[in-house]
Amino acid sequence: MKKVILSIFLTLVVLIIAFIAYIWSGSYNISQLSPHNSITRRIIDITVHHSINKRLKDIKVPSLNDTAMIAEGFGHYNEMCVICHGAPGIEPSEMTKGLYPEPPRFYKSDDMPETDEAFWIIKYGIKLTSMPAFAPTHTDNNIWAITAFMLNKMNKMSPSEYQEWIKRYPEMEDESGK
Ligand code: HEC
Repeated sequence: MKKVILSIFLTLVVLIIAFIAYIWSGSYNISQLSPHNSITRRIIDITVHHSINKRLKDIKVPSLNDTAMIAEGFGHYNEMCVICHGAPGIEPSEMTKGLYPEPPRFYKSDDMPETDEAFWIIKYGIKLTSMPAFAPTHTDNNIWAITAFMLNKMNKMSPSEYQEWIKRYPEMEDESGK
């Protein structure tokens, strides 16, 4: 029994030393252009999924059909999100080709997040990706407006309608006062 415990202990020590040596060696490629291997990718995906799901319990989704709310959401989306996620007829900035993970395109996507999940992600962001948290600068109402536009309006718009909205609604200023 003692021998088994000792060998487990020694194996652990060797693994820890090997891990520390690996970190200090600089062998790990930190570049955005060096994707995770499939095991790491899977672990991250599972972690993100469960982390977000656990935090959705207390979110109460309000009604998201109000026209003024959707117009407000459009203003924020057009100001802050198009650069990474694109919009009807608008490509994301070329910068996104150098981001890992690359931001998903929402227009005409059939893989949209659930409403509460979208709200949570916009509010809190996703660590170690380029998805920012908007809670430091935007109220919950602002973020619900963005969610409303994104999920209830954007996919129904044509590129020319989106351009009309750009002219119709001037850029919204941040109203949170934070
Ligand atoms: C600098 C780039 C960047 C900006 C700006 C940005 N995002 Fe993101 N966003 C990302 C990336 C990258 C991901 C994917 C993260 C991942 O794969 O875990 C993401 C993911 C998301 C998701 C989750 C998508 C899904 O299918 O689960 C939502 C919702 C989202 N963004 C909404 C927004 C909104 C709304 C805005 C503007 C208020 C915004 N993002 C601004 C980069 C950005």
